[in-house]
Amino acid sequence: MEKLLINGGNRLVGTTRVGGAKNAAVGILPAALLADSPCIINNVPYIDDVITLTKILESIGTKISFMGSGSLSVNGTGHIDYRAVSDMVKRMRGSIYLLGALLARNGKVETAYPGGCEIGARPIDQHIKGFEALGAKVTISHGVIRAEADRLVGNEIYLDVVSIGATINIMLAAVKAEGTTVIVNAAKEPHVVDVANFLNAMGANVKGAGTDTIRIKGVESLSGCEYTIIPDQIEAGTFMIAAAATCGDVTIKDVIPKHLESITAKLIEMGVEVIEMEDSVRVRGTCRPKKINLKTLPYPGFPTDLQQPMTALLSTGEGMSIITEGIFEFRYRHVDELRRMGANIKVEDRVAIIQGVEKLTGASLKATDLRAGVALVIAGLMAEGQTEIEDLHHIDRGYENLEEKLAALGADIKRVGKGETILKKVDKDAAI
Ligand code: EPZ
Repeated sequence: MEKLLINGGNRLVGTTRVGGAKNAAVGILPAALLADSPCIINNVPYIDDVITLTKILESIGTKISFMGSGSLSVNGTGHIDYRAVSDMVKRMRGSIYLLGALLARNGKVETAYPGGCEIGARPIDQHIKGFEALGAKVTISHGVIRAEADRLVGNEIYLDVVSIGATINIMLAAVKAEGTTVIVNAAKEPHVVDVANFLNAMGANVKGAGTDTIRIKGVESLSGCEYTIIPDQIEAGTFMIAAAATCGDVTIKDVIPKHLESITAKLIEMGVEVIEMEDSVRVRGTCRPKKINLKTLPYPGFPTDLQQPMTALLSTGEGMSIITEGIFEFRYRHVDELRRMGANIKVEDRVAIIQGVEKLTGASLKATDLRAGVALVIAGLMAEGQTEIEDLHHIDRGYENLEEKLAALGADIKRVGKGETILKKVDKDAAI
């Protein structure tokens, strides 16, 4: 069983860079199936969710070639099967975008019900509402989602919940529909905008992405393009929080500071120094963060994906902090693990009341989901003594070379399995 071994107490010092945005990549790769010629996509993160998605795309007939240094070409111009029902689909949430892409491309799609982090019920009713509004018939049975339409016709769709997934999926389904589609109460996250920009680079007509109303005028056809994915807002925020948690001094490069404004604001409120530069941020930690109150909200609010790392940071803050999880109903599975390290946190429904303690102590822990896992890594970096973390597959879904990047900043962290240190050095030039 692979696990991470962390000896806490080292300050993170130096410079690191973030990769391409996971939650943009999982929308852009299926979207490339809509083009009549191949697409080249750059800055693709080498993470398990992306690797799984490329395998799913290849299993339905897509030709994918890895060009090295994070670039790959996606060629969906041949025969593409409308059925994506392998177990791989159930391993991640991002596979849900095959619905919108294949419905637009083939007028018919069958996918297994998606998986992803267990952080709540994660229904897909808003996705279905959008597809039906465009004229599709959608059924779910035996764990398979089926959607088909003789023709897709633009419509106005009001999202009852601000949903990133539904916003992206409806955009994919609507780009070649007849007439205009308007998504009202749309999600505004940077990765929604990135998918819209990619669609427009292929010749689509998507306007208003980044606002709560997106207008999509259907076009006859889309052509291949070359596109570079934006930096990962959540990976950048993770390193900002890790720098603060270790009282460190870290410069994170290749970021878009605008996307990090809510994280910057909360860290400054905690007494952390954050210096914004054109495409990087420098974070200088304070050894005991001040207490804050925090609520996760749709962008530009504080992102739910950083609630768990922030809980770890606040567990040794001054006084009592209150975190409210405004997006998912059950995103506190990391708290039980933090308690094993001495954290004093009470959870009532969506609210976590964190009484800061002097220090955390190392323990043997299990990652329960992607961001819970990285929250435990941050706690291990802060703790006195050794921390072991198992079930690393959760973390590997969303972070590329995490322990290598942290070790390069001075962390005492390594991945071990069955008694030896596994050099998980991925040769990016060979792989993706
Ligand atoms: C995306 O999930 C991300 N995943 C999640 O990132 C992220 O936490 C989440 O957005 C919120 O920012 C990907 O992009 C692959 P939603 P998604 O639809 O699309 C409810 C990570 O750590 N809802 O925006 O599934 C839903 O239950 C992962 O990288 C409905 O009620 O999230 C939730 O309460 C975890 N009906 C809220 O909306 C629907 O049809 C927001 O969900 C869809 C969603």
